[in-house]
Amino acid sequence: MSTPHLSASIMCASLVSLEREIHELEEAGLDSIHVDVMDAHFVPNLTFGTNVVEAIRSITSLPLHVHLMVADPGFFAAPMAEAGCNVYIFHLEAERYPFRLLDRVRELGMSPGVALNPATPVELAQGLDVEHLLVMTVEPGFAGQRWLAGSERRVARARRLMPASTVIGVDGNVSKTNAVRAMRAGASLLVCGTSSLFGTGLDYRSAICELRASLAASTQGTPTKRQKSG
Ligand code: DX5
Ligand code: ZN
Repeated sequence: MSTPHLSASIMCASLVSLEREIHELEEAGLDSIHVDVMDAHFVPNLTFGTNVVEAIRSITSLPLHVHLMVADPGFFAAPMAEAGCNVYIFHLEAERYPFRLLDRVRELGMSPGVALNPATPVELAQGLDVEHLLVMTVEPGFAGQRWLAGSERRVARARRLMPASTVIGVDGNVSKTNAVRAMRAGASLLVCGTSSLFGTGLDYRSAICELRASLAASTQGTPTKRQKSG
């Protein structure tokens, strides 16, 4: 289990102080900013557009991972590239021609990724040439939900099905405990929302230190009896 990529879910930050929040996240050692774009059609919530991505781009050099929870993901590809998106993650359930959109995303200079709702068989992503596969561990649309049972199995299946070059990420209720579950199952990217970062009551640096420490302890510690006996 290697060091995970930690991506901060910016919808969970204090939006009235976005610039300060982003700088604190940078200083805390986050690896990227995760921008949840919701259109009130694919999910029953409405969040950010390209203007917000552009504003974030102007104040940070961290990679911007844009998670498109929209009914027509192709529509936003060019404007998001223009706004400074680095990783363009769209929902497979929303796109009829994923191979074509993945090519377009690459042509636009972004890294392509797909996200899968909890009820979508992970097998549907098999054969897609993606750099990121985001396994939803809650129904998309809102922060503060509960980790769905069976998520670890989905992550493990995704890890087995996809080539080693595909980063498997998890999004939704990635608390310290669930982060360990996800990493053990084969995830290497964690979307940090309220559960591990913004709602802990700790400053971001301390929250990230705690998260990394519990991940390290869970893998480097003495094997438990159960692990020893296999
Ligand atoms: C869910 C969002 C997540 C969410 C994570 O639709 O994509 O990024 O904000 O935050 P918590 O930890 O509250 O689930
Ligand atoms: Zn997300």
